[in-house]
Amino acid sequence: MNRVSTCDGVWGERLAEYENLLIDLDVEKHIAVVTVNRADKLNALNRALLAELDHALDEIAQQSDIHVLVLTGAGARAFVAGADIAEIGGLKGQQDGAEFARFGQQVFSKIERLTIPVIMAINGYALGAGCELALCGDIRLAADTAQLGQPEVNLGVIPGYGGTQRLARIVGRDRAKGIIFTGERLGAEDAYRLGIVDRVVPAADLLDEALSLAESLAAKAPRALALAKIAVNEGVLLSLDDGLDLEAELFGQAVETQDRKEGTDAFLEKRQPHWLGR
Ligand code: COA
Repeated sequence: MNRVSTCDGVWGERLAEYENLLIDLDVEKHIAVVTVNRADKLNALNRALLAELDHALDEIAQQSDIHVLVLTGAGARAFVAGADIAEIGGLKGQQDGAEFARFGQQVFSKIERLTIPVIMAINGYALGAGCELALCGDIRLAADTAQLGQPEVNLGVIPGYGGTQRLARIVGRDRAKGIIFTGERLGAEDAYRLGIVDRVVPAADLLDEALSLAESLAAKAPRALALAKIAVNEGVLLSLDDGLDLEAELFGQAVETQDRKEGTDAFLEKRQPHWLGR
């Protein structure tokens, strides 16, 4: 990957520097890689890190030349080992706790609502908020060494960054309760069998696999991907009839794009399409 740091002139003025995140951009391939970088604490998410992530997501969302985001954790051991337990220990009561949860939820929902595909490259422990973060992505690749789980009840709390809601929607109500009640750590293969991760790859190949998948998605019509993401994410929350209405509406929006003409012309002319993203 052609790694372009935030110090690079092309991006220096547009993308802030972050203490707890590494941001690599490949503008030619249209891929951004965000690495949670707090390896001495197994990439645990504290408020400062979440605030940085919130800001970075806004910046990435504004880059029209970035079409796919890959999110991973620094080091070989952890994707994200949870919310920062020291911060949870310092929470001052109900309101403080609810605000703590809402802030994390807001940042994670921002990931889910990005109009570009988000690939989670789960390179190790994805526990608590780490598992919840992974659940916000569109496609989850896991290293064969990864371990996922929601161990919050071991600390006297519950998942607060969307785990009780998103996990139940992915694996079903009762399996989610089993995972949350026991706090057990699932190996990557078990997580795959439950549908929590989409693919398990050797740890050494994880980032290459994620980047290769990102490249293949970046070669698709960006607006079509965005519309498909909205159709699926919002449609599953609706009745079938309302979901079909939404699909027809979004299909209509896709037909309005110049990329629809380019995509169909390219097929008929037996050439590669050149997407405009509109
Ligand atoms: N919050 C804050 N710090 C954390 C953390 C978290 N969620 N997870 C790990 N760390 C810190 C440890 O405190 C330790 O810091 P230190 O070196 O300053 O003492 C460092 O990261 C390394 O973790 P350590 O526990 O020593 O590694 P390990 O290999 O023995 O165990 C885990 C790894 C992931 C099993 C263990 O760290 C763990 O259970 N973490 C908490 C997981 C969790 O409950 N997450 C949900 C939080 S709501």
